[in-house]
Amino acid sequence: MKRAIITSALPYANGEIHLGHVASTYLPADITTRFLKMAGTEAYYICASDDYGTPILIQAEKEKMTPEEYVKIWNKRDYEDFTAFGIGFDFFYRTSSPENVVFVQDTFKKLMENGHIYEQEIIQFYCKFDKKFLPDRYVVGRCPYCKAEEQYSDLCEKCGRVPQEIEDPKCSICKNPPTKEKTKHYFFKLKNFVNELNQWLEADSHLQKDVKKYVQNWIKDGLVDWDITRDITWGVPIPLEEAKGQVFYGWFDNHLAYISSALKFLDSKGINGKEFWNSSDIYHFIGKDIVYHHYLFLPAMRFGIKKEYKLPDYIPTRGHLMLQSKKISKSRNWYIGLKDFLQNYPADYLRFYLTMITPYSQDDLNFDWDEFAARINSELIGNIGNFVNRALGFTKKSTGGIIPSADNLDPADLEAQGKIKNLAGEITPLMEENHLDRALKKILEFSAHFNQYFQKKEPWKGGPGTNNCIFISVNAVHSIAVSLFPFLPESSQKIWSQLGLSGKVSEQKWSSMSDLLVQKGHTLGEPSPLFKKVEAADIQAHKSKLGQ
Ligand code: 2FM
Ligand code: ZN
Repeated sequence: MKRAIITSALPYANGEIHLGHVASTYLPADITTRFLKMAGTEAYYICASDDYGTPILIQAEKEKMTPEEYVKIWNKRDYEDFTAFGIGFDFFYRTSSPENVVFVQDTFKKLMENGHIYEQEIIQFYCKFDKKFLPDRYVVGRCPYCKAEEQYSDLCEKCGRVPQEIEDPKCSICKNPPTKEKTKHYFFKLKNFVNELNQWLEADSHLQKDVKKYVQNWIKDGLVDWDITRDITWGVPIPLEEAKGQVFYGWFDNHLAYISSALKFLDSKGINGKEFWNSSDIYHFIGKDIVYHHYLFLPAMRFGIKKEYKLPDYIPTRGHLMLQSKKISKSRNWYIGLKDFLQNYPADYLRFYLTMITPYSQDDLNFDWDEFAARINSELIGNIGNFVNRALGFTKKSTGGIIPSADNLDPADLEAQGKIKNLAGEITPLMEENHLDRALKKILEFSAHFNQYFQKKEPWKGGPGTNNCIFISVNAVHSIAVSLFPFLPESSQKIWSQLGLSGKVSEQKWSSMSDLLVQKGHTLGEPSPLFKKVEAADIQAHKSKLGQ
């Protein structure tokens, strides 16, 4: 049996999940996991809250909580919001777990033994007003590469690079220019891995070509060794006597939680975690803002421990979601919280719309309220909802829901039957290669074909082809239920129940969408409309809430 471990970028435990998070990462990862499971892979979707780091410490301080209390609240809330959106993690853990702390410390020791760590006295920003060292987000300034202003010292959001030293620095707490003080830090020798990284990127693999190019250019420009130490109290303690009071940088420990959380989960199932990891396809779903970390730091660290845990096979990277064509920003209140959204519309509406607009590329996407309404009303409801309801409703009315037999198929029936038989073959490669938007569009094309078929056959006239039309249409509904499951799990299960089939769609074989499994004599369940139209007045209200 094939195996897979799927992860998606770990959400920082410091704020609510919004639409920007789910479009590029959690939703594609969830769809892929559901697909792989149905396709017979032993697949597990592992995630965790990203608990450490300066922003979280700053936020906890502001809210007068300990960081432990603070991250616990967000870990729970994030998990609840994801679950309401149909994200089916097999395990959701945290980077501050005791298992991760030990795993990170062990990894550090191995890197040290293998000669990839060195110490260096550095000059660090220090705020004499706040009396603390100022790592990362405690300092804002100008990016030395692209000259963007107001960037944090650990990542330029404009050009995506990690500045070696930010220009015109200011303390982010009190806005005063910081002074500089000496402190001893540990560095990871990223430069040691130039050859291995290049070979990995050059190899024929499932990694995205455009992203690889980007990263190869960074390597060409020259890599700098990586300061993995922070003089703060919130983080994984550096396991050395002489490093008392120092912790690891959040990006040193967070991606290791992909592994430590997977091991914890697999262990609880009695599975040898390391063996499973190393014999699995490894997927890390990310947004394009963290390419640097996932294509350089993460693989280099795995090389540094001699590939004790294998490198990722897939790092599906997608662009940023804009909202009404403007960059999402929590501080400017330009975002839609996932929880809020789900109070107005079913999860499947959002899953449908986001999948349709999210290609497998780094291109940015745009959430637009009018487009959302148009796509739900015309494509999800007008196409899929309409066909399913028409086919099942008509069968119920004309035969009491009992499936008749089919014989003497005419050319239109044969063509329609051929569409069913070809469906899995058309969609599967798209799913395997991460083109989830294209796969969903194929299901829409399939449904559109059956809408036309049904219309042309005019079964309500009771002519000689009526039974064939019913038999084939109901089987097409079955194909839709199976193929739609990874995308719209709730709606797919509803269709399944309306078909009067037992069990769960999730337990069906992926390839069964191409089998005519609904047999003559079978009795349907109760058909009823699957979806409710999105109203223009409500859309206007949502836009007004954004001030539009
Ligand atoms: O950028 C972020 O939101 C980070 N919390 C992602 C971490 S992914 C990691 F664990 F690799
Ligand atoms: Zn200050």
